[in-house]
Amino acid sequence: MRRFYIKTYGCQMNEHDSRKIAGLLAVRGLQPTDAMADADLILFNTCTIREKAEHKAMSEIGRAAELKAARPELVVGVCGCVAQQEKELLFDRFPLLDLLFGPDQIPALPRLLDALEQERRHVSALEIVNDVDEYQFLNLTPWADGVVSPAAAFVTIMKGCDSNCAYCIVPQVRGREVCRPADDIVSEVQGLVERGVREVTLLGQTVNTYGNRRHAGVIPFAALLQRIAVETAIQRIRFTSPHPKDVNDSLLAAYRDNAKLCRHIHLPVQSGADVVLRRMRRAYTRAQYLEKVAALRGAAPDLAITTDMIVGFPGETDADFAETLSLVETVQFDGLFAFKYSPRPGTESFARLPDDVPPATKDERLQRLFALNEAIVTRRYAAHIGTTRDVLIESRDEGDGRWRGRTTHHMIVHFIGTECVLGDIVPVHITDAGGYSLRGEKR
Ligand code: 5AD
Ligand code: SF4
Repeated sequence: MRRFYIKTYGCQMNEHDSRKIAGLLAVRGLQPTDAMADADLILFNTCTIREKAEHKAMSEIGRAAELKAARPELVVGVCGCVAQQEKELLFDRFPLLDLLFGPDQIPALPRLLDALEQERRHVSALEIVNDVDEYQFLNLTPWADGVVSPAAAFVTIMKGCDSNCAYCIVPQVRGREVCRPADDIVSEVQGLVERGVREVTLLGQTVNTYGNRRHAGVIPFAALLQRIAVETAIQRIRFTSPHPKDVNDSLLAAYRDNAKLCRHIHLPVQSGADVVLRRMRRAYTRAQYLEKVAALRGAAPDLAITTDMIVGFPGETDADFAETLSLVETVQFDGLFAFKYSPRPGTESFARLPDDVPPATKDERLQRLFALNEAIVTRRYAAHIGTTRDVLIESRDEGDGRWRGRTTHHMIVHFIGTECVLGDIVPVHITDAGGYSLRGEKR
């Protein structure tokens, strides 16, 4: 095997898992390729959060079958959340597949490839690892060159999810929470800094529950933020995604006192109606969510807040949906991802609640939510015109030569300027806004 191709679906966790996989493969001497047809090893890192995500991956696997028919030595594998959910059934469904492994089994990849090289077919590793002593967090730093962006990187701080949201498949496919020792996190961040990284995003399924389970070396989440700020030369710290129930006083204090903590939080709310939140088992009410938002804005007045919403959850009435719209009006989000409810086999809502909101109603609600949000976000972005923002330079637009970076609010800025270097943080005067981005000129 000389070249590998990885296609990634789903969330940032999966994107980051793909980087780890790429790192392990690079260590074995394999080169990445962007063309599936050129690869000797094809991996699909899959997502099962909604039916559509799963279907997309499944149809691409079919395409790989054609390549495999022409080149039997080609190795095709499925990893990620669909692999974890469907397990060996995938071998029956796609006989071409050689390799299956779940999200917790990425460290097993070298062993699995050894087994394949000994001409064993249908190699798999699908155990979920919930044991703190057994779970292995991979440190990306050794492979950082060519794997992480020069300016900003992700660092996994925990795996799994101990919440039980009725609609969500994640606990089934990613297991229980396991937190990574703080020392390891701090040293990974410092290693990245030494390679020129200026901003880290701490990753976890419910990232601010880090520290709720206090196994060895694990400290409260806000203390972790503080340690990273004080003990490393990183310039910016982000995290995603927090759970509203664990937005507590110590996190508020971090927003007040930790100057490296970026002024943005992605705080999924899912619905604005109490009855729906209760059926979803979200562990907070509308009023409690609004209190957290107010407290966050009290601690960081210019905080940008983005969110996730689900429309058409079982039993959601027009009146319930009106509550969602009114919550969006009240909060004034800086960005919103909204999804139609998708019943996922293995979840509580799939088993117990009929998917009773008609597809056309789901569509209509989604459109109304997007329209409202679009008007709000346009205003929120426009409010930055005339200010000067520090922008971390991440790339250069090929077309018009503008630089591209992000503000502390996680807003993209396209700007013109001289003496720009990737990874630098530079002041940019904002002159224009639109299309979920800002434009400006370097000061
Ligand atoms: N149907 C629709 N959306 C879902 N999400 C999670 N599970 C489902 C589902 N079954 C959404 C939630 C979550 C985001 C990552 O995906 O909004 O925050
Ligand atoms: Fe998809 Fe959830 Fe798995 Fe991320 S954790 S890839 S969103 S199923």
